[in-house]
Amino acid sequence: MNPIHPALARLARAASRQDFDELEETLHVALRKPTWMRPEHRVGDPKSYMRHLLYIDPQDQFVITAITWLPGQVSPMHGHQVWCMFGVAEGDLTEERFGPELELQQKVVYRAGQLAATDLDQQAVHRVSNRGISRVVSLHLYGVSADKLTTGINRLVDETATSR
Ligand SMILES: [Fe+2]
Repeated sequence: MNPIHPALARLARAASRQDFDELEETLHVALRKPTWMRPEHRVGDPKSYMRHLLYIDPQDQFVITAITWLPGQVSPMHGHQVWCMFGVAEGDLTEERFGPELELQQKVVYRAGQLAATDLDQQAVHRVSNRGISRVVSLHLYGVSADKLTTGINRLVDETATSR
């Protein structure tokens, strides 16, 4: 992995301290001015949204990833097993938030530079998607070790239980 970009280093410092106010502020800066974004972070996979690993905490407490969403790509409906924070660096990203009965509570479209509502206590259930016609790049921090990246973040929810 290449040396960490200064904008991501600020994020990493806040995340390693679990200083979530500072993390929110630095994430906001990184989204408004995505100087950290390299061409490979904008590469999408036509089969599914694509996660790019940007930084692994040496203490294994968190990772920083970018996700590229091509038009029409949708995440499963899920909760989280770890704290997570994300926002949009390019394009418009849609988030649907669901309530205790998995009823749709809120639908929000985040524009480039905007931070999504954070989920520090693993209470949220959401589905994230690119409903637009151009690519979306989002930036995510997860309180997970890199070896659990594929299985340790999402808590999948049975979508057949959805009331609508
Ligand atoms: Fe999520």
